[in-house]
Amino acid sequence: MSYVMGIDVGTSGTRAVIVRPDGHVVGAATGDHQPMLMLKPGWAEQEPADWWAATVKAVRGALEAAKLTGEDIAAIGLSGQMHGVVLLDKTNAVLRPSLIWCDQRSQAQCDWITQKVGADRLIQLVSNPALTGFSAPKMLWVRDNEPQIFERTAHFLLPKDYVRFHLTGEFATDVSDASGTLLLDVTNRKWSKEMLSALGIDSSILPRVYESPEVTGEISRETALVTGLKAGTPVVGGGGDQASSAVGNGIVSPGLTSATLGTSGVIFAYTDAPKLDPKGRIHTFCHAVPGKWHVMGVTQGAGLSLRWFRDNFGESEVWKARQKGVDPYDLLIQQAERVPPGSEGVVWLPYLMGERTPHLDAQARGMWFGMTAAHKRGHMIRSILEGVAFSLRDSYEIFKELGIPIEQIRASGGGSRSLAWRQIQADIYGKEVVTLRTSEGSALGAALLAGVAAKTYSSVEESSKQAIVIQDRISPKPANVSLYDRQYAVYRNLYPAVRELSHQLAALGG
Ligand code: XUL
Repeated sequence: MSYVMGIDVGTSGTRAVIVRPDGHVVGAATGDHQPMLMLKPGWAEQEPADWWAATVKAVRGALEAAKLTGEDIAAIGLSGQMHGVVLLDKTNAVLRPSLIWCDQRSQAQCDWITQKVGADRLIQLVSNPALTGFSAPKMLWVRDNEPQIFERTAHFLLPKDYVRFHLTGEFATDVSDASGTLLLDVTNRKWSKEMLSALGIDSSILPRVYESPEVTGEISRETALVTGLKAGTPVVGGGGDQASSAVGNGIVSPGLTSATLGTSGVIFAYTDAPKLDPKGRIHTFCHAVPGKWHVMGVTQGAGLSLRWFRDNFGESEVWKARQKGVDPYDLLIQQAERVPPGSEGVVWLPYLMGERTPHLDAQARGMWFGMTAAHKRGHMIRSILEGVAFSLRDSYEIFKELGIPIEQIRASGGGSRSLAWRQIQADIYGKEVVTLRTSEGSALGAALLAGVAAKTYSSVEESSKQAIVIQDRISPKPANVSLYDRQYAVYRNLYPAVRELSHQLAALGG
């Protein structure tokens, strides 16, 4: 039997899964990362060496859990948190910690890019506006603030591609992850020469771009020794975590969309051709399906909102969970379930790391609105679950506006494990929400892409037919849909009403 492996370099950890041709995960393990370093509000960094250490742990753990050896793995796919900037010098040493996807420090660089290239030309060249989340503005922040580091940069890599470099010694990336750099000509699936020259970025520092199921290199001898993998095993391009997760969720044809609740929250839809939002509120990227594209809307602080609550206000749940041997999130969500839909008027804006869709605003700030003395802890928790879903609904509203069909929503990511949160999503989106047999999302998608290279599947679309099975369906409850529709109107007007104040606070250093 031939198995394939997917490795997903996430934000909180790296996960490796070993997958059978029918999509069953036969072994999985995670290596945790150090918490992100947040030296100032809006800054977020991680050490690339930490991703590699976690990868070694996850790969060894997955082989052990599956009781397999490297000989059994036919090919490997990579997935990863997008947009992070890893800079290496000419000896391939890491020059500084990586500025990761949610780092928001590069607004001045975004303004400079927009002014230099022109807002309309930007969309023509790279299909997206300049956003602090993307890689190029972060590279320019380093150029402007740490010129001695920028001058020594010989290679730029995205997070999963740094892990690829360790696995294979190759400097390579894939079209879906490269789309989030603001340097890729998304329509033609290659680096944009005009953009590189406008920004003064030397093309020699960029990795080579591949389609996601293409082989980019092989496991090296040294890596085989530390990981237990077999030297010579092919490693495919893989994808950014969202495109990989879409493959793992079978989002490979029109009408299918996914709602992924990880640290960030993402609404994703497949498109046959690049579909542009003239206002730039959603991202238009290459899909991991060769020759196809996708759109997605991103909420920066989705699972992050609940984790922030747990870490700062959930001491008693963490303590109780430890005594009972359960997950503290389950205890938090049980309190939310005791509160009626709508949280009796409390609304949460999840903008703990600024916001992308729809506001494109690094200075957006989170808030609870509508609190009275009658509200309790459970209301605050429930409103977080609802606020995150409202924020994702913002993306669906834009998809509708652009005429992108939404027939089914497939929930994935850590947040999809909670039935209560899935019901809240179905009620707030007003659509059926389904979950799949495996919720491994990104890591599974990366493995399926490897399966295409290994000839287990004839195409990415075929891998979906063979490996993806719907497990459970949740229908929206009409009474809740109508209540949430009315509350969404309040949610939608809330941030525009406080935007100016949010910016004033941010200017004060908050
Ligand atoms: C996508 C995005 C996140 C990160 C972290 O644009 O920023 O999905 O990749 O998960």
